[in-house]
Amino acid sequence: MSIILGIETSCDETAAAVYDSENKALLSNVVFSQIKLHEIYGGVVPEIASRSHLEKIDIIVDSALTQANITLEEVDHIAVTNKPGLVGSLLVGLCFAKSLAFAKNKKLIGIDHLQAHIFSSFLKSDNTVQDVPFPHICLSASGGSTVIYYVKSFDDYKVIGQTIDDAAGEAFDKIAKIIGFGYPGGAKIERAAKLVDFQDFYKYTRTKNFTKSLDFTFSGLKTAVMYDLVKKGAYNLQTGPIWEKVDTELQNKVSSSLLVCIADIFQAKVELALKLYPDAKAVTFVGGVACNNYISERLNSIVTNTSKKFISPVCKFCADNAAMIAFLGACKAEQNKFAELDLDVFE
Ligand code: KG4
Repeated sequence: MSIILGIETSCDETAAAVYDSENKALLSNVVFSQIKLHEIYGGVVPEIASRSHLEKIDIIVDSALTQANITLEEVDHIAVTNKPGLVGSLLVGLCFAKSLAFAKNKKLIGIDHLQAHIFSSFLKSDNTVQDVPFPHICLSASGGSTVIYYVKSFDDYKVIGQTIDDAAGEAFDKIAKIIGFGYPGGAKIERAAKLVDFQDFYKYTRTKNFTKSLDFTFSGLKTAVMYDLVKKGAYNLQTGPIWEKVDTELQNKVSSSLLVCIADIFQAKVELALKLYPDAKAVTFVGGVACNNYISERLNSIVTNTSKKFISPVCKFCADNAAMIAFLGACKAEQNKFAELDLDVFE
């Protein structure tokens, strides 16, 4: 039983958290989001991301320790994301964690960011931990990946479906850009869709067989939205949006139709996964896209109708954070899975 400091810098959040495995409680969870630095470029700029991590990492780690009311000496192990992500960003977190581990004689734990997302479902809004029954299905959807897993235990899980092109969050972000919402787009799309009651105005194409395979494809959806806007006279393939035509009503209707389309796709995949893996006791929904209440409620209703549990963490644990890194770090520490100081980063 130990105190774990978690560090996360895989993309555009500098995050640190402290987890107490004896009391199964999160003692702190601090995140600095770089969104403001990247939004003018319409997406994450890797060089800006790593420079910002470098500026913030010591402040964020210090703040996580202060909020947890502990000193570095009281930390037993240091868990850090070392894959996958932007190499420059990962390096900042890993080098910082290694330096602390070396200087203070702590053990280091390397964490796979995607694995941490899977088990973020164990984190409860009150910063305690719940047991999620095994086996379960996990739908993990973020800006960089969209994967369905069949999860038997903390270290026994397999990919049963994944995107063959864009991630779901990427689809939200790209289409948001096309209709002038800027980056990142998911939350703005949801807010706009709510204003028109989540109606499916334009019935964008769901790919053929979308109910028959567990894999996802979202790049066609982006193209379908774009060509529909061309037809409506609101988009030019060479020059982009025609702003006189992109009014609030159109933005809301596109947002709503897109959200319903993606929710339909997610629902079909979860239904199929439950059919193919009938022993699954629960379905979890994690990653930044799981901040979406509309999709979450739709999945909740179909899963609970089958008498299985539906679990989706609160948004602070869905989006990138270090709480999930510290929590998974604690699981690995219990299994004695420590890393050496030559631990490397992987894209
Ligand atoms: O997991 P995450 O924080 O990190 C990365 O993958 O970088 O996910 C970010 C993604 C973005 O694409 C964002 O647009 C999406 O999650 N997102 C949402 C919502 N909030 C964030 N997508 C749909 N609805 C939301 N409410």
